[in-house]
Amino acid sequence: MNVRFDPCGPLRGRLSIPADKSISHRAAIVAAMAPEPVCIRNYLQAADTSSTLAAIRDLGAIVHAQPDELVIRGVGLRHAQQPVERIDVGNSGTLLRLLPGWLALQQGQTFKLDGDDSIRRRPVDRIAAPLERMGARIHARDGRFPPFTVEGELLSGISYELPIASAQVKSCVLLAGLATDTTEVIEPLPSRDHTERMLLRAGAPLRREGDPARGYRTTVGNVDELVIDTLEVPGDPSSAAFLIAAGVLVRGSRLVLENVGVNWTRTGFSRILQRMGAIVLADLEPVGAFAEIEPTSEVDVSYGPIVGVTVEADEVPLAIDELPLVALLGVFAEGETVVRGAAELRLKESDRIATVVEGLRGLGASIEATPDGFAVQGTGGLRGGRLKTHGDHRLALLGAVAGLASEEGVEVVGMEAADVSYPRFGEDLAGLAA
Ligand code: S3P
Repeated sequence: MNVRFDPCGPLRGRLSIPADKSISHRAAIVAAMAPEPVCIRNYLQAADTSSTLAAIRDLGAIVHAQPDELVIRGVGLRHAQQPVERIDVGNSGTLLRLLPGWLALQQGQTFKLDGDDSIRRRPVDRIAAPLERMGARIHARDGRFPPFTVEGELLSGISYELPIASAQVKSCVLLAGLATDTTEVIEPLPSRDHTERMLLRAGAPLRREGDPARGYRTTVGNVDELVIDTLEVPGDPSSAAFLIAAGVLVRGSRLVLENVGVNWTRTGFSRILQRMGAIVLADLEPVGAFAEIEPTSEVDVSYGPIVGVTVEADEVPLAIDELPLVALLGVFAEGETVVRGAAELRLKESDRIATVVEGLRGLGASIEATPDGFAVQGTGGLRGGRLKTHGDHRLALLGAVAGLASEEGVEVVGMEAADVSYPRFGEDLAGLAA
């Protein structure tokens, strides 16, 4: 589906953005692991999180969809049922990497996981390595890619030093660690900590040491069952980021976004924007905080001039999904914008260094790829044209925002990719442009 996004007048108004995708996945998985029903409010209704509901149903959980909430009757920590068919994760890398942590502790059961063409290019050796050290058996295509099987076992605790900062791998090991004496995960840099907060809330024995500069050492241990009755999912800061960028770039705009998640491990983009000189006001959680809750805030953003910045490796995990937007903002900023230490972008739904550079260059931007990021020369504006999404939802939304701020508009080729995280983007935009 091709959709045109034309240059628009000021975007103005208040908006409640879609629910957080990362937290929705975790809420469904943790609810399926619990023996008592869990009520989830504001679960994200999008393709990726529907895949998670289908997956937990395959494993024996019952999902009741009510108008304002989901009630999930889980199977308990150690009683996932072995499905007859393979589990289809669709397009979701998070489901692909998190679920095996739970499956690995189902002694004597075997699970097969697969997904779409993009999923078949996403490496799973990063979770296979720690799970195998714990005692599970993983068989992946070419030792590295889906489809793959997980054979559950009696697991032993490990101390695992993550080779890269990845919340997906960290979460996978922590979930498996719930059936071991003690398992610790050491990260080189902090990454999103929604799994830790949710497990803490569900009564798991979880401890965290360290600081934001050096990263954290997180320990979990054996738990009989997870206990949690209600989970409330905040608005997604990664989805908000597209509207925030539109508010900064479209002349005369002023937007207020309601109920945005401001967990500091997700707000790297807001801090980068503030360094660029953008007017983004929000009650951000202090860096280094750790609590059972997921904090929220209104985000108030206004149009204004911005300057180029350099984003270094330590900021990357805290803004990983928003880096394509940093490239777009760099086009409109004064001076140069550089992102370094972000080679992980090459392993997302598309190779996001290649697709962002190709996409923005095709619209007239002056941008170069580097092995681990990109460099953009600010030119004060963008011509427009066509941008291919390569089936990547963040590329689709990037193209849409680029169109609004461009001179000639942008035709987004493959806009349906946005359904994975933000299906109602077009309607939300229409409400703000009215
Ligand atoms: C996610 C973690 C990040 C992020 C992805 C969602 C999560 O991936 O890019 O969109 O929910 O844990 P990595 O853990 O691979 O960095």
